[in-house]
Amino acid sequence: MSELLRNVMRNFPLGVAIVTTNWNGRYIGMTINTFNSLSLNPPLIMFSADRIKGNDKPFRESNGFVINFVDNEKLLDIFAFKDVKERFDGIEVQEGKTGSPIFPQSYAYLEARKYQIHDVGDHSIIIGEVIDGKIFKEDFSPLVYFRRAYWKLSK
Ligand SMILES: Cc1cc2nc3c(=O)[nH]c(=O)nc-3n(C[C@H](O)[C@H](O)[C@H](O)COP(=O)(O)O)c2cc1C
Repeated sequence: MSELLRNVMRNFPLGVAIVTTNWNGRYIGMTINTFNSLSLNPPLIMFSADRIKGNDKPFRESNGFVINFVDNEKLLDIFAFKDVKERFDGIEVQEGKTGSPIFPQSYAYLEARKYQIHDVGDHSIIIGEVIDGKIFKEDFSPLVYFRRAYWKLSK
């Protein structure tokens, strides 16, 4: 059934972002398509992290995270496929209130303090309470992930 789930989900377009954190002084980041807002009051956001790959660990062991909304396909590929230790090489960042890196080239970001973590199946749902954020630009081309590729929205 997990293959069926994979095959059906491949056909469902999802937004993409890069989640970052500061893990004991080390910058960590990964491309995600499981980001969503969860609650307005309190303002909560969430994503799910693959526990088999250990993607949950840095977020479990740090005090918060930043969701970087980017429309740059190359950056999304770096943060999905490049060696974890080399992902931030040559990339400009600013530190947020939780020490998590923010990409000034994003079109917006949200910063959250760790709120709850729920282990469900082979993933963990990482929930954060929004403490900061900004819209950097109004003029951008958001990407969606669909059938294993990034697509630009057009009307
Ligand atoms: C489009 C896309 C979406 C992804 N979404 C998630 C996600 O929501 N949660 C997750 O744990 N991994 C997700 N991944 C995989 C992680 O980006 C990847 O496992 C992480 O960067 C660590 O890299 P590694 O698996 O090479 O160690 C996604 C990958 C891609 C290409």
